[in-house]
Amino acid sequence: MKNNVKIELYNDHFENAKRYGIPHAQLIIADIPYNLGNNAYASNPSWYIDGDNKNGESKLAGKSFFDTDNDFKINNFFDFCTRYLNKEPKKGGERGKSSNAPAMIVFCAFEQIPLVVEQGKKHGLLHSYPLVFIKNFSSQVLKANMKIVGATEYAVVLYRDKLPKFNNIGEDGKNHMIFNWFDWKRDSKKEYAKIHPTQKPVNVLKRLIEIFTDEGDVVIDPVAGSASTLRACAELKRNCYGFEIKKDFYNKAKEQMISDEILDEIFNKRQVTIEDLMEELSQWKKQ
Ligand SMILES: C[S@@+](CC[C@H](N)C(=O)[O-])C[C@H]1O[C@@H](n2cnc3c(N)ncnc32)[C@H](O)[C@@H]1O
Repeated sequence: MKNNVKIELYNDHFENAKRYGIPHAQLIIADIPYNLGNNAYASNPSWYIDGDNKNGESKLAGKSFFDTDNDFKINNFFDFCTRYLNKEPKKGGERGKSSNAPAMIVFCAFEQIPLVVEQGKKHGLLHSYPLVFIKNFSSQVLKANMKIVGATEYAVVLYRDKLPKFNNIGEDGKNHMIFNWFDWKRDSKKEYAKIHPTQKPVNVLKRLIEIFTDEGDVVIDPVAGSASTLRACAELKRNCYGFEIKKDFYNKAKEQMISDEILDEIFNKRQVTIEDLMEELSQWKKQ
């Protein structure tokens, strides 16, 4: 069956995007490396062998999640994003409605929020607001008897001037307020492979993508990891382009998150043609 949705993951630095001639995006979603340096696994049981401090430190103690965490260039990142975001529309939206202006969503650590906002401003993304994601679990098990443990994730929405495209019509056909907090529901492992240590749930990404884009729009994830954003886009019929430097994540993402078989199944499931329905009807009549 015909499918017009493009889902492309490149095993390359987003800094090399020019090679691939990708289109501009209505939405850029990025989960930037947390630059946690040597403390990526702090408060997490993986710091110790079998999660028990009596066993001594594991090989993850004092490590960053990956070496790319240490040399991520936030200035390059914002250069890329402002170059690849759609242009600002000349006209605003109708009275009381948002325009078609593009948006960026950057997942980051709480401590990185001021940096993201400031870098955004330097690159012409003059406006921003925070998003908070609420979890009912925490990985900070080892500090649980000493402090309040973190059970939230953060992101920043950035835009240039006009409020970005905004879909807030609910299933009842009415406009709804959308609060700046969301439930962080973990994906079921049966439905989505677990590939990356900081993988974002596809269902959370889908909710954000639905709000800021329409079917057929382009989304880019410059630091795609497991390709969770690409998978979310495929399921919502948005075109999506992603970059991931690490060969291992790239291979796993291609095999387990956005393989041809998975994408075929998603698109075929959605694109039931009139011919299919007629065929089904005639089979049913024969019974
Ligand atoms: C925080 S992770 C993203 C995880 C992803 N959101 C997910 O759900 O799986 C950031 C990823 O960016 C990759 N990365 C870092 N710098 C990059 C660059 N310049 N170009 C492309 N990928 C990069 C890292 O290898 C890492 O896998």
